[in-house]
Amino acid sequence: MKIIFKIVGAENPVLMSAAEQIFDAGGKRMRPALVFLVSRATSEIVGFKELTTEHRRLAEIIEMIHTASLIHDDVLDESDMRRGRETVHQVYGTRVAVLAGDFMFAQSSWYLANLENLEVIKLISQVIKDFASGEIKQASSLFDCDVELEEYLIKSYYKTASLIAASTKGAAIFSGVNSDVCEQMYQYGRNLGLCFQVVDDILDFTQSAEQLGKPAGSDLAKGILTAPVIFALEKEPKLRDMIESEFCEAGSLEEAIELVKTCGGIERAQDLAKEKADVAIRSLQCLPQSAFRLALQEMVKYNLERID
Ligand code: IPE
Ligand code: IPE
Ligand code: MG
Ligand code: MG
Repeated sequence: MKIIFKIVGAENPVLMSAAEQIFDAGGKRMRPALVFLVSRATSEIVGFKELTTEHRRLAEIIEMIHTASLIHDDVLDESDMRRGRETVHQVYGTRVAVLAGDFMFAQSSWYLANLENLEVIKLISQVIKDFASGEIKQASSLFDCDVELEEYLIKSYYKTASLIAASTKGAAIFSGVNSDVCEQMYQYGRNLGLCFQVVDDILDFTQSAEQLGKPAGSDLAKGILTAPVIFALEKEPKLRDMIESEFCEAGSLEEAIELVKTCGGIERAQDLAKEKADVAIRSLQCLPQSAFRLALQEMVKYNLERID
């Protein structure tokens, strides 16, 4: 990931520091790991042993896009913590945060174009557009108790699954495998991505801020109604009044969180995550048996274990 610092830092020291604030904090680096694993697993099909420069560069570009989206997401969500540190806008102000995110999106596009693969360029530029669609969808349905599961999944696709799907499909494209395998890798990434967002949304209810490295319990407070709440609303009509009054009464947010937990919202969201995980794992069947295919399967399982 050193290359990313070089890329971001060269032109502007303020953007360099802003980027370091979030890059240095690490993060799970799940997306580059997926790019490498799919690259390896699909290279085997065509008889290549080594990763290409394109595969490596793709992994860097994807992590840079992801990080840019987090900087912007934290501005929109007004979150003050990310990866266990203060967010970029908290330290450098909203202007610098917005510009740092823009700068990183633009830089990633430049590096993407230099890979000179039109299919991958189209795939990834669509993702950058999808972030905005997802964030707008979310912002326009705050505290809306009529939001349906299907809409939540579409929003989650835009915000999260689209990038993961493009990462895994992009890696397959660079290996030169046939379009069926590329499509299966897309489906793997898409369903893993949906599962991942549902898990993230569950953890927002079940974990502490220390465990998360970002504020806990804040989705509901902000009116972001995620899978556990959507399921809970079906069982518990009292929840609707609390949400629609935007938790103006003291203690009603805590009561609502408790209701979501007691009326089975979490369990049903867990089932939804498992359902998406199963579909993701089935998409791996087109790959030859290998340590890499097994690791891709483990990535899905590891993600689910976070909510056990
Ligand atoms: C956070 O992604 C945003 C979501 C899609 C839920 P990650 O959980 O992968 O964030 P880092 O990179 O590990 O910090
Ligand atoms: C994912 O959604 C954010 C992006 C992919 C931009 P969240 O809003 O749930 O992410 P966190 O919870 O802030 O990490
Ligand atoms: Mg957020
Ligand atoms: Mg979240």
